[in-house]
Amino acid sequence: MQILRFKENEKAELALVCNHLKAGNVVVIPTETVYGLAADATNEKAVNKIFEVKGRPIDNPLIVHISNLDMLNDLVREIPNSAQELIKAFWPGPLTIIMKKQKQVLNAITCGLDTVAVRMPNHSIARKIIEKVEVPLAAPSANLSGLPSPTEVKHCVDDLKDKVDFIVDGGKCEVGIESTVISVTETKPVILRPGIITKSQIENILHREVAIDDTLSPKSDIEKVNSPGMKYKHYSPRADVILCEGTYENFEKYILKNISPKTCAMVFENEGESLKIKCFEYGKAENSKSLTKNIFAVLRQIDSEGFSKVFVRMPKRSDANLAIWNRLIRAACFKLINLR
Ligand code: TXA
Ligand code: MG
Repeated sequence: MQILRFKENEKAELALVCNHLKAGNVVVIPTETVYGLAADATNEKAVNKIFEVKGRPIDNPLIVHISNLDMLNDLVREIPNSAQELIKAFWPGPLTIIMKKQKQVLNAITCGLDTVAVRMPNHSIARKIIEKVEVPLAAPSANLSGLPSPTEVKHCVDDLKDKVDFIVDGGKCEVGIESTVISVTETKPVILRPGIITKSQIENILHREVAIDDTLSPKSDIEKVNSPGMKYKHYSPRADVILCEGTYENFEKYILKNISPKTCAMVFENEGESLKIKCFEYGKAENSKSLTKNIFAVLRQIDSEGFSKVFVRMPKRSDANLAIWNRLIRAACFKLINLR
């Protein structure tokens, strides 16, 4: 396994990566959300390798990444008006749009569905690679299935070092969680996976109400989800994750009663010093983007330091924090304590 840095020698690195992809191999590439495990979306064998390498369930379809709108026409039967508006507003960027697929889109990608998920990433290296290789790239997050998505090269190395030839280094991912996924195949658009592009931002562009898939709520029937990836225990570190909702004072009292070796806390900026337990700060309570940027990195750090349990300070429930709630509630297998 080799780590490639697109700096002085960019042309040579780019050629190396593209040749490897054209030959039907997988490569880890950076995107603005999380690192992706990419393969030529038009090559069935290459796409199958993604599933093998990740240990991904075969009924969980992949996102296809493009670098220009010409590529979209070969993937989808039509681009509904709502999709056109979303594309104008948010591409390139962390929004994946599900549309009706063209016949030639491989079943290996869509897992037999009649729809395909497409995203135009906003990361210069990802875009250069797709542009140069001249085919769309299928890419799930570059973690082993079930672990938190990788936001730094070292996470990809930890998960995939024996399984891939190249990891392209793009530094720390700016967004830190995966893209918002929205389906526009029915009359009412539906958010299937929340991300940093929020429901209200989308509604402001479409001038209409957008639904949130009700299977995203903690109490939902996990077998009936519309976005297959959402049904698996996901974003999940090895440590037991316990979410705590409520005031800092109550959190502090609760921690004091529950201190034990190998237990730590995940808290907001400047909260770590006064607790009698090892603390990992993950961002500012009032700034959702600072939290999303670090959430997966901190969960991985907790595992690598050998903690077996983590108590997490939850931000307030809001449109902007929905994605954070969604990722953490899955990491915690729905264990939530009310400390209000
Ligand atoms: O930010 C991202 O989206 C990252 C980067 C690498 O682009 N990719 C990513 O891919 O998170 P993945 O495979 O980890 O998640 C894709 C999600 C899954 O929940 C999957 O079930 C859903 O998108 N999905 C893909 N195609 C779908 C379809 N046709 N219908 C419904 N859900 C779909
Ligand atoms: Mg994933």
